[in-house]
Amino acid sequence: MPKEGPFRMSITHRLFVTCLGLGLLSLVVVGVEVRTTAASAGSRPASLLASFDIPAMADKGRSAPRSLWHRSLKESPQTEKTIGEVRKNIQVLKDFPDSQLIPMMNLMSASLGVKCDFCHTVNAGHLDPAADDKPEKKTAREMITMTLNINKTTFNGRNEVSCFSCHGGHTHPLTVPALPLPEAAPRPGPGARPGPGGPGGPTGPAAPQITVDDVLNKYVAAVGGQAAIDKLKTRVMKGTYTTGANTLNVEIDQSAPDKVRVIFVSPQGTMERGFNGSGGWEKNQRGVQDLGGAQLADLKSGFMIFHDLKLKEQFTRMNVRKEKLDGKDVNVITGAALSGKRERLYFDAETGLLLRRVASTQTPIGVIPEQIDYEDYRDVDGVKIPFTIRTAGLDNFSTGTRKFNEVKINVPVDDASFNKPAPPPAAPAKP
Ligand code: HEC
Ligand code: HEC
Repeated sequence: MPKEGPFRMSITHRLFVTCLGLGLLSLVVVGVEVRTTAASAGSRPASLLASFDIPAMADKGRSAPRSLWHRSLKESPQTEKTIGEVRKNIQVLKDFPDSQLIPMMNLMSASLGVKCDFCHTVNAGHLDPAADDKPEKKTAREMITMTLNINKTTFNGRNEVSCFSCHGGHTHPLTVPALPLPEAAPRPGPGARPGPGGPGGPTGPAAPQITVDDVLNKYVAAVGGQAAIDKLKTRVMKGTYTTGANTLNVEIDQSAPDKVRVIFVSPQGTMERGFNGSGGWEKNQRGVQDLGGAQLADLKSGFMIFHDLKLKEQFTRMNVRKEKLDGKDVNVITGAALSGKRERLYFDAETGLLLRRVASTQTPIGVIPEQIDYEDYRDVDGVKIPFTIRTAGLDNFSTGTRKFNEVKINVPVDDASFNKPAPPPAAPAKP
């Protein structure tokens, strides 16, 4: 049992586990390894990987195919605790789901262009986020309150203004236009829009001749056809995950419709996560734990075998428009994902292949963007699979590249390997 003590996290440990954790999340989030008290974590020990999921926003009441895979997508994390219930010293963010806390911290850091220790104290290499000794943290609380109020009173409850709206990557927002003003540039085409940003950017003119079904059907044909997708029972992928200066070996084993096991190996050790269709687990140097809630939702949504192959079932309210991406003509489908996120899917207009997924998650203080790029599609026994996947998120660690050197489909995979392993003989934690 961890001892009662301040809510702390080891920065070096966090870095390592974050790297491991991030690879796990194909819609990437920041992982934070937290050594915490039993009291503050409820029943869950140690590792907390923040998720961007907002289950409450999931589109309800729409009819959709009822496959196992589909049910897996929609399953919401078990009754989620609020930030106030889980954390020690919360004054303004109390009532929001705890899975949003770390994403909001990332958003605040990125909006100001700072690291966590701009607002939080570091004691002997440990971030102590519950401590209140920095004035910046106090200011941030006032800023959060102000931002919530602006949205509530001026924008009718819509999350229009975020920390980034004013700060734009600086601690002190610019208040005066810099002179000389930039020359009026020709209006950029829609493809030149900056970043993955918010969902409300300018859009190209609607192209009535193309429909969502056209684009999705062309994609299915491009990856090998519906029959090949339906025949997919297992997939085993081996390669590396590189984030910053770290490169880890990664293996992903998948079995239809929703079993998955992900193994990361680094010089510092091995971490595994798995889901056997009913329960999730994590195994690391400290032992074996159940994986639930947001972490499990991320594992499933990011790594299930059909995540990028059965797209239609994942969305409601889909629309399509034409755009440019890096000079290429693309068809962009926007939709509300069952996970609660809004997503944009970019398909190469010529080949039909999926090039990019951008997800946006609403939080009370702004939108959290995540981006995945798919490259180097190769044919594996009749199914086209991207051998390079780039992920990007708000924090440095979540930006990384998975490169596969071996992908096999429909090979035998031991079903038992998806079950929670027995704990290793050594006791996981000392008091
Ligand atoms: C701009 C200031 C700011 C930055 C940057 C920031 N935080 Fe925070 N953080 C806060 C504030 C303010 C609270 C308390 C919110 C409240 O009282 O509702 C908080 C609370 C927390 C808590 C809950 C502590 C507890 O148990 O009470 C954690 C954990 C946390 N932050 C982690 C982080 C991490 C990790 C980062 C870097 C990714 C980070 N924060 C970056 C301002 C910041
Ligand atoms: C409406 C514009 C606006 C919004 C929205 C806004 N801020 Fe600010 N913020 C400012 C301004 C202006 C200052 C500088 C005040 C000063 O210099 O005294 C500031 C200062 C700060 C500071 C102090 C910086 C320092 O160097 O000490 C922090 C911390 C901060 N903001 C955090 C946030 C966070 C976190 C959010 C989102 C929850 C946010 N702000 C949203 C306008 C804004």
